[in-house]
Amino acid sequence: MEVFLALFFFGYLTLVALIFTRHLFPPAQSGPIPEKVSEGYDHSEFVLEVEDVDKSFDQPVLKSISFQIRSGETLGVLGKSGSGKSVALKLIAGLLKPDSGRIFFHGKDITRMNERDLLNFRKRVSYVFQGGAVFDFLNVRENIAYPLRERGMRDEEKIAERVDYLLEAVELENMGDLQKSELSLGASKQVAIARAIANDPEIILYDEPTSSVDPIIKKSLNRLIRKLNKQEHLTSIVVTHDLRCIEMVADRVILLKEGIIHFQGDQEAFHSSADPYVQAFIAGRRFEETADN
Ligand SMILES: Nc1ncnc2c1ncn2[C@@H]1O[C@H](COP(=O)(O)OP(=O)(O)O)[C@@H](O)[C@H]1O
Ligand SMILES: [Mg+2]
Repeated sequence: MEVFLALFFFGYLTLVALIFTRHLFPPAQSGPIPEKVSEGYDHSEFVLEVEDVDKSFDQPVLKSISFQIRSGETLGVLGKSGSGKSVALKLIAGLLKPDSGRIFFHGKDITRMNERDLLNFRKRVSYVFQGGAVFDFLNVRENIAYPLRERGMRDEEKIAERVDYLLEAVELENMGDLQKSELSLGASKQVAIARAIANDPEIILYDEPTSSVDPIIKKSLNRLIRKLNKQEHLTSIVVTHDLRCIEMVADRVILLKEGIIHFQGDQEAFHSSADPYVQAFIAGRRFEETADN
């Protein structure tokens, strides 16, 4: 009986001590990631939510930007050069921090994540940089295998299998042994895309994926991006000043103007918009395309 009482008393003391410690030394900010609270819509519907984001350098670049993306959706972000498209992508990738506002990935705020959660988030997101990123000291196969090895894949058979799948996915079968110097610009971009999807990301961010290639290659790259987004069920953002690219790949369109979202809606609404800036943007791009060709 005494033993029982002693144990009970000891347990009680431990509990009180635990409560006290927690009260006196609350867990650091790096604890659970804050979930979004209010808002009148079901945020579980969205993979990404950008909420009231501001970003300035010497001057304001983005002002109170808000948008959401559903799973499997391709969002096209249009805007003139310097309108903040690349900055927006870097904010979403977690490479830049917003001055204010929040960015949610499946309801969790990436702007307040600790290093470990941020690392996990980055593993789910892939970035196709404007210039592509093909190493010139590796052939195509090894370029595509690079992110797999970097993520810890060691089994050579598995690596070869995955590289074969990716070569086929980006329509570069039989080109695995080529060096970068032997690739056209379009093919380099296909390699960059294969590398970006190698580790099966959930989100893919494309920065001007069709810049500096000729119109025929542009068209086939756009078709490839569209096909991959659907086939791999990628949630994607395509940032470009190329209207044709957006027309071919995007489900929904955002038009940036001087740091604000001037238009947001589907393709049909964009093309039938009576807004003078939207109309001028469409007319301007068409004019440039005709002048280019
Ligand atoms: N790291 C930086 N430091 C200072 N200014 C920057 C930086 N990154 C972008 N900017 C400025 O932000 C503006 C938008 O840039 P950016 O997002 O690259 O435009 P774009 O729409 O052409 O991609 C530009 O005026 C650019 O000079
Ligand atoms: Mg840019």
